Amino acid sequence: MKKRVFSGIKPSGNLHIGHYLGAIKQWVQMQDNYDNIFCIVDLHAITVPQDPKVLKAWTREITGLYLAAGIDPKQSIVFVQSHICAHAELAWILNCFIPMGWMQRMTQFKEKSQKLKEQVSTGLFDYPALMAADILLYDTDVVPVGEDQKQHVELARDVAQRFNSIYGETFKLPEPVIPKVGARIMGLDDPTRKMDKSETAPGHAINLLDPPDVIRSKLMRATTDSLKEIRFDGNRPGVYNLLVIYELFSGKSRQEIEAHFDGKGYAALKKELGDVVVEGLRPLQERYRKLTADPSHIDSILADGADRARPMAEKTLALVKERVGLG
Ligand code: TYM
Repeated sequence: MKKRVFSGIKPSGNLHIGHYLGAIKQWVQMQDNYDNIFCIVDLHAITVPQDPKVLKAWTREITGLYLAAGIDPKQSIVFVQSHICAHAELAWILNCFIPMGWMQRMTQFKEKSQKLKEQVSTGLFDYPALMAADILLYDTDVVPVGEDQKQHVELARDVAQRFNSIYGETFKLPEPVIPKVGARIMGLDDPTRKMDKSETAPGHAINLLDPPDVIRSKLMRATTDSLKEIRFDGNRPGVYNLLVIYELFSGKSRQEIEAHFDGKGYAALKKELGDVVVEGLRPLQERYRKLTADPSHIDSILADGADRARPMAEKTLALVKERVGLG
């Protein structure tokens, strides 16, 4: 029996190379060796205000991008979170087993609530309970995510353990899987901050569907430093981030990359980086255009995915309700 992978992305903005390098690329690499479920987590997206039409469009765009990146919907289940009621229902039950103190420690909530101030919803605070429900409904073994989601996966594991200790073996304990390189791609305009889809500054992120000239110009404007040498040095976040992106798109070793850029300047690095990113994204962009030419194709994949995932989710939820004494 293959181990189960579960992961997801919020349809709350344009997908960028951070999502690709930190998450989707791993999913594709792991796909053959695992039994996979990939979700588009629209209930998480509404923890901050969304335009209804745009939300639906992003849900379909992200599905198209999963497939264009190499997720095979025959092999892997791809579905929309709100299509399966069990997610919201289990989230409520888990809420009742998560101490407030655990939630108050979540760094993502602290960061986001500082930015949003009085617009912060209760849903945003409760976000990790819904994420735990997503993961625990499917007997998930591993959750491939970027570094920013590690704490949430650990909370899912902690609540599973707590529930099991009260009611007996019910949930499998999931493990986060974080890539060694690329787990935290930083903003091009400010390499001390994570590349984030909620950032709107034009030079912040390279989006997966950006045209080649846009990709090149964003990279040419990326923040570096006043030094010259091109080396993988974590103390120089701008150059380090560009080199990590180069490493992941080119597939070359750090030694080869440093030797290649020896004696060259930042302009050369940015230009060559533009070439590898444009070429790296070209096949994905071409496949995306073909896959989405007929919008009903994406909808039928999502309907099929929900039909395959629903019985699994309902089985877990029924067991949980039985254990707790509901009904
Ligand atoms: P989201 O939509 O913020 O991000 C989706 C995935 O992309 C990774 N990621 C990054 N990796 C590297 N560098 C970056 N700059 C970067 N930005 C984003 C994230 O770590 C994530 O893996 N809460 C999740 C969605 C979710 C989920 C789940 C994930 C809901 N339920 C269950 C796994 C399992 C989120 O908001 O991801």
